[in-house]
Amino acid sequence: MILIDGKETATKIKLEIAEEVKKIIASGGKKPHLAAVLVGTDGGSETYVNYKVKDCEQVGFGSSLIRFDENISEQVLLDKVKELNEDPEIDGFIVQLPLPDHIAESKVIEAIDPSKDVDGFHPVNAGRLMIGMPCFQSATPAGIVELIDRYNIETSGKHCVIIGRSNIVGKPIASLLAQKRSPGNCTVTVCHSRTTNIKELTLQADIIIAAMGYPGFLTEDMVPEGAVIIDVGTTRVKSDQTKSGFKLKGDVDFEAVAPKCSYITPVPGGIGPMTRVSLLLNTLKAAKKEVYS
Ligand code: GUN
Repeated sequence: MILIDGKETATKIKLEIAEEVKKIIASGGKKPHLAAVLVGTDGGSETYVNYKVKDCEQVGFGSSLIRFDENISEQVLLDKVKELNEDPEIDGFIVQLPLPDHIAESKVIEAIDPSKDVDGFHPVNAGRLMIGMPCFQSATPAGIVELIDRYNIETSGKHCVIIGRSNIVGKPIASLLAQKRSPGNCTVTVCHSRTTNIKELTLQADIIIAAMGYPGFLTEDMVPEGAVIIDVGTTRVKSDQTKSGFKLKGDVDFEAVAPKCSYITPVPGGIGPMTRVSLLLNTLKAAKKEVYS
């Protein structure tokens, strides 16, 4: 069994990005700049956004954190999105989700200029991804593909079973792995909450991607010998063993499943750090106008 070290890979990629930023600045360019918009004080969102800002510092990007009270109107948020769209200093930005119930997430996402949508959530980027055009790929699927590539895991002709059909993980990773390129060329099955025979399907898989946010869902009896296991779950569960009072739990029963696998990603230290680094890679692409010129 090979443990896929997302943390180490992400650290390597960050060094590569930092080198590129140095070159951009040495040749008279401006440093890439990511803005993050945070509405309210949800603990998980606060943590994630703070990590994103810290990541920017580490690679030499500029960053801005824009905070709003959770009672702001939808219009105030839409006005901020418009301002960021038009600000030449900002190469890319994200609006951290979830948003409070009185704000329509889809309206906010659709207001973001696709050329600054480094989360890859805008329908234009999601559509481009689907048909294999240049786009900002949603960060988690991009991170999974990057890890599979860097670990030289064969995907061509393999059966990949994805558990979860979200717009930001399940659907885009299904699309990426089915495409005619490398990594890709998989036969893909997407399972979800209404699938009646998940175990029957996972037992036929070469690669299983667990992305439904149900801690410990994928148990040893659901996994064939030698499978590649990618665990996207990051549910915060209460813990008296950590300073924060929380720990992250994946969708895979790691202890029992790991001995059966050829490769497996841990939680934490697997897909999470790769998701964060993908946002940096997208911001670098935005600054270099690699996707939309
Ligand atoms: N909430 C949970 N994950 C994400 C993410 O990747 N981007 C944004 N904007 N919000 C999130």
